[in-house]
Amino acid sequence: MGRLTGKITIVTGGGTGIGRAIAYRFYREGATVAICGRRRNVLETAKEEILAGGDGNEDRTVYLDTVDVSQSEEVGRFVTTVARAFGGVDILVNNAGIMRFSPLVEMEEDLWSDLLEVNTLGPWRMMKAVYPHMKARGGGAVVNLSSIAGHKSLPNVAGYCSAKAALTMMSQVAALEWAGDGIRVNVIAPGLVEDTELADPIFGKDGVPAFYEKLRSLHPLGRSGTTDDVADLALFLVTEQSSWITGAMIPLDGGRHLATNRPPV
Ligand SMILES: NC(=O)c1ccc[n+]([C@@H]2O[C@H](COP(=O)([O-])OP(=O)(O)OC[C@H]3O[C@@H](n4cnc5c(N)ncnc54)[C@H](OP(=O)(O)O)[C@@H]3O)[C@@H](O)[C@H]2O)c1
Repeated sequence: MGRLTGKITIVTGGGTGIGRAIAYRFYREGATVAICGRRRNVLETAKEEILAGGDGNEDRTVYLDTVDVSQSEEVGRFVTTVARAFGGVDILVNNAGIMRFSPLVEMEEDLWSDLLEVNTLGPWRMMKAVYPHMKARGGGAVVNLSSIAGHKSLPNVAGYCSAKAALTMMSQVAALEWAGDGIRVNVIAPGLVEDTELADPIFGKDGVPAFYEKLRSLHPLGRSGTTDDVADLALFLVTEQSSWITGAMIPLDGGRHLATNRPPV
C-alpha cells in the first residue's frame, strides 16, 4: 500500500518539470492525480509517463484538463469537476509558475501583472476553490512552490522575487486561518532545479545550459537540484510524517540560501 493510497490530489503545472515529477511520485504512492496546465498535448504526454510509472494493478487514474490559473472560472470548473468525479480533494500542489527578468526601471505593467497573476493569485484561486472540499473531508494538505527568489533578492528579478515572496506570506496566513480545519499549508523554496522549462522563455532552450552552468557553483553542496529532490520533499509534506508541520517555508537548495553571491571583501 502506498503512502497516498486513497488520496485525491491536484498538481498544477503537472505537465512538465517539477510538477510532472511530483504527479509521477504521488501516483506511484497510490494517489489519484489531477494535473492541469495550458497545453493539452504536454499534459497528455505527461499522463502517459505517469501511468507507465504505476504497478500495473491500478484502481486509480490520472485526470487532466487545460486550465490557465490566471482565470478564476477555469480554476473553479477544474476543481469542481475533480471533486465531483473522485469524491473530494485531499491534496493540492500549487506548482504552476512563470519566471521573467527585467531591470526595475524597464518593467512594463503587463509583466508585473503576469507574474503576480500566475505565481501568486493562481495559487490563491486554487486554494480558495479546494478549501470547502478539504474542509468537508476533515482536513488536507497544500504545498506551494515558491523559490529562493522569494526570500533572497536578485537583481533584475523584482517581479518574480516579489510574486514568490507574496506567495510565501499568503501561504503562512492560510496556515493560520485553516489550522483549525485540519488543513496544513507549507512552502518549498527551491534553488536551481534543472530539466524544467522555467528558464526557456528568458534564455531560449539553447541558452539554458549556460545559465545552469553559472548558477550551479552557488549551491554549497556542490550540485543543482533534481525534480526528484522536490518530489521527495513534496511527498513528505503531504503525508502523516509531517502532520505537525504547517506554515513552514523550507529552502531546498543545497545550502544556497546560506551563501552570499559576492566575495566576503
Ligand atoms: N526550476 C527551478 O530552478 C525552480 C526554482 C525555484 C522555484 N521553481 C518553481 O517551481 C515551479 C515549477 O517550475 P519548473 O521549474 O518545473 O518549470 P516549468 O517546467 O516551466 O513548469 C511550469 C509549469 O507551469 C505551467 N504553467 C505556466 N503558466 C501557467 C498558467 N497560467 N496556468 C496553468 N499552468 C501554467 C506550465 O505549463 P503550460 O505552459 O502548459 O501552462 C508548466 O507545466 C514554478 O512555480 C517555479 O517558479 C522552479
